Amino acid sequence: MRRSIARRSSLQMSILSILGVGLIAVFGYHCVWMWQEVRHQESLERTATAVEQVLIRNSDMLPTDMWRSVDELLVNLGNVRAKVHGDEGQVLYGPQVLLSQVKYKKTYMYSLAGLGGTMPMRDLELAMDVSEDKKFLGFIGVVFAIAAVVWGLFIMLLSGTLARFELKPLNKFGRKIASFDPSDLTARIRSDNEPEELYPVIEQFNKLMGKVGQYQEQLRSFNSNVAHELNTPLSSLTVSHELLLREKNPDPEHLKEALHSHLEELQRMNRIIQSMLFLSHASQGQYNDFRWVEKLSEPVMTVMDYMEAMLEEKHLHFELQGDASARIDSELIKRALSNLVSNAIRYAEEGSTIHVHIEKTMAQEFVAVTVRNKGVCIPEKSMPHLFEPFYRVDQSRNESGHNHGLGLAIVAAIARLHGGEPFARCNGVWVEIGFSLKQGVLPALAEV
Ligand SMILES: Nc1ncnc2c1ncn2[C@@H]1O[C@H](COP(=O)(O)OP(=O)(O)OP(=O)(O)O)[C@@H](O)[C@H]1O
Ligand SMILES: [Mg+2]
Repeated sequence: MRRSIARRSSLQMSILSILGVGLIAVFGYHCVWMWQEVRHQESLERTATAVEQVLIRNSDMLPTDMWRSVDELLVNLGNVRAKVHGDEGQVLYGPQVLLSQVKYKKTYMYSLAGLGGTMPMRDLELAMDVSEDKKFLGFIGVVFAIAAVVWGLFIMLLSGTLARFELKPLNKFGRKIASFDPSDLTARIRSDNEPEELYPVIEQFNKLMGKVGQYQEQLRSFNSNVAHELNTPLSSLTVSHELLLREKNPDPEHLKEALHSHLEELQRMNRIIQSMLFLSHASQGQYNDFRWVEKLSEPVMTVMDYMEAMLEEKHLHFELQGDASARIDSELIKRALSNLVSNAIRYAEEGSTIHVHIEKTMAQEFVAVTVRNKGVCIPEKSMPHLFEPFYRVDQSRNESGHNHGLGLAIVAAIARLHGGEPFARCNGVWVEIGFSLKQGVLPALAEV
């Protein structure tokens, strides 16, 4: 059987109410029992005093007359029997065992030592038949027990019905989700008329729908971008091949040139596919050659050495500030750095300086690596899209065919693999783009 909130809560409520009523019943039962005990005690004390009075009043009578007076008194009192012991413990009045046939009785001893008279008496023993009271107590106990169980069952039924009634909005919510059109990811559930307890669930659900919609949109634009990026070179290759094939006597020089340009196109397409494969592998967390590196400046310097020719071509200078140690995959970090530095070289003002900063962030466990170049600021509206695959700020300026807008997406993927995030900002004429990485802990499969 499935777990049911209504069933569980009604069971809990009924157990609680049985316990509550049970406690009251036990208390009530105890009170009745105590009241009976007190009443028995008082009644026996009263009887003992009355017997003593009779004995004092009739002390000068013959014993048979005296005991008759006691008999008369006890007959009037009803359910009490008496026995009088003499000086030596011998029974002067009454049977050897009082109320021998009675199961429930209450006994009481009363000293008659100070009583004078011709016949010395030691004590008076009284026994009271309390069977009726015991029966009443038993009856009360059964009534209380039945009341507790009946009350518990009643509460179980009532709370089950109430819980089912109160849980109706949850079922309604379930039906709403079931009736959702999966193709319309812009739809949201309204929380205005829902109970307060459902607000967080609805809020989370709507957030989730937002995220799914966002991912779907990213996937859609990624697919169309891939198709677009590969379509242009493939079309031009096809047209070029067709033209070459139509030529009756092709010039060998012209053929060689065409082959060169085709090779370039093919290499370009290969680069796009390699970048996409990298992004796909990174999103599956397939890179895990993480090692502790004492100086992050070392991979930076390796990249800068590699970029020297490009720097010189634009008469750029380079400056490295700060250092830190971290657990990294050096090859990946070098790849991210070379993407950032090649962008910086492309967009830096001629003759300016490119700065690379390595510093611990305020949160201490993170290290931020920033590449800074002097240039034209990236428009504010482009900032949120900068790290999306195939995004280029100025499409027309970048239609050169060499840049596909994949460099920063790769930087972002590498940062997330290291437990960090990419960032970009403009500081006057300085464009700062970089990434953070978690210093020590090797992140688990990161969401890239
Ligand atoms: N330092 C920078 N200064 C100004 N704009 C930049 C800078 N770095 C990147 N950008 C902008 O961000 C866009 C995305 O950069 P990204 O590196 O992802 O792509 P790309 O350099 O155009 O192509 P790829 O890196 O794939 O060769 C660039 O097209 C450019 O418009
Ligand atoms: Mg780039």
